[in-house]
Amino acid sequence: MATPKFVKEHNAKHMIHPMTHQAPLQDKNRPKIVSQGEGVYITDVDGNKMVDGVGGLWNVNVGYNRPEIKQAIMDQLDKIHYSSLFGTMTNEPAIELSHKLAQMAAPEGMKRTFFSSGGSDAIETALRLARVYWKSVGQKDRYKFISLKGGYHGTHFGGASINGNTIYRRNFEPMLPGCFHVQNPYLYRNPYGITDHEELGEVCAKVLEEEILFQGPDTVAAFIAEPVQGAGGLIVPPANYWPRIREICTKYDVLLVSDEVVTGFGRTGTMFGARTWGVKPDMMTFAKGINSGYVPLGATMINEKIEKGLLENEDTFGMIMHGYTYSGHPVACAAAIPNLEIVENEDIPANSAVRGEYFYNKLAPFIDRFKSIGDVRGKGLMLGIEMVADKETKAPQDPAFGQQIAAIAQKEGAMVRASGHKIILSPPLTINNEEIDVIVNALDVAFSELDR
Ligand SMILES: Cc1ncc(COP(=O)(O)O)c(C=O)c1O
Repeated sequence: MATPKFVKEHNAKHMIHPMTHQAPLQDKNRPKIVSQGEGVYITDVDGNKMVDGVGGLWNVNVGYNRPEIKQAIMDQLDKIHYSSLFGTMTNEPAIELSHKLAQMAAPEGMKRTFFSSGGSDAIETALRLARVYWKSVGQKDRYKFISLKGGYHGTHFGGASINGNTIYRRNFEPMLPGCFHVQNPYLYRNPYGITDHEELGEVCAKVLEEEILFQGPDTVAAFIAEPVQGAGGLIVPPANYWPRIREICTKYDVLLVSDEVVTGFGRTGTMFGARTWGVKPDMMTFAKGINSGYVPLGATMINEKIEKGLLENEDTFGMIMHGYTYSGHPVACAAAIPNLEIVENEDIPANSAVRGEYFYNKLAPFIDRFKSIGDVRGKGLMLGIEMVADKETKAPQDPAFGQQIAAIAQKEGAMVRASGHKIILSPPLTINNEEIDVIVNALDVAFSELDR
């Protein structure tokens, strides 16, 4: 068994950490090495126990150490740990899970699932299925993708090309051709000076329509967006936005892809983000909450329109020459089934809605109390704090400030995620009010100390 000293030293020497500069990680006291989880709590190798305000990485939705999920994994390992889905091969847990997902997402019109190993895979699959669909139905010029500024769709070249934040693209350019970005409905900062949310929703929907017309509707394959933008900084659209973009996509026959990697399975307070806005997309992408991160898993669902286009085509354009060795991994799929039963039986979306409101109401007064907080916003248990250096100009806070806030919060017993000038909060959806209070108090201590 590795000692705390061993893991600290070897992390510094041998690991490359995602999404960060490597230099500070050479200091063996910097990384937080988490070794245990129970419910909403995590414990590091030094024995510090914290409420996990990040929920793993917005994926541990039903909490840590759930016996039902561990048992399902063990049972599957006893049967067979791996079997492929390529060609005509298949396996029982993947079939059972595709059936369960089709039932759960029936109100959104979803019929079939393509499995993968995570959110980036699910997005890559959605982009590829969109292109193969249009080729399949004879509209071979429809290859372009439109997405939102501020959007995050993972880190494969396809997903990164539709990402709407420079930081995720810049060091990897040039990106995939044919990807275009339009304004997101970001009320706190928008280029139009609009302060009414619904008005902004209408204007941003119009901007999408103009971009489709500018590109030529017969060249646009799909519009892809998150129902609530997550990594881009918790941008909650107004209620009119998604219904309007659905109308526009329908008008120009552009596929609407709802990236539900974060919002799927209750995060926004309803089962799916698209349901929060009362919209039926053409495709939905899932990962994270599908099995709460017990084993890597991603899924891309399609509706009947796409199913028909793919099934009815008899030439090679109907071929889906795309897939992963771990598509439909039996252990990952087996873990998802009890996870989704917990989501339904414990009405996890309802808990997310109620606790999310409690959490928001506790954090909203921070805007008046702290001069470094410009905005607090969120939907369900997906919340964000936007930090500013100056409230008048809204100049963003130095990212180092957020790192310091997170470090103090950890000492106070709460893990929170600092991302640029935003603090992102996405705890397990099983959290209760007392556990939320731990996070709120930790942030209160941190801002009280640093907000000078
Ligand atoms: C909305 C969204 N899409 C896709 C992804 C990529 O998922 P993964 O990190 O599992 O590849 C993420 C990751 O956070 C995400 O937030």
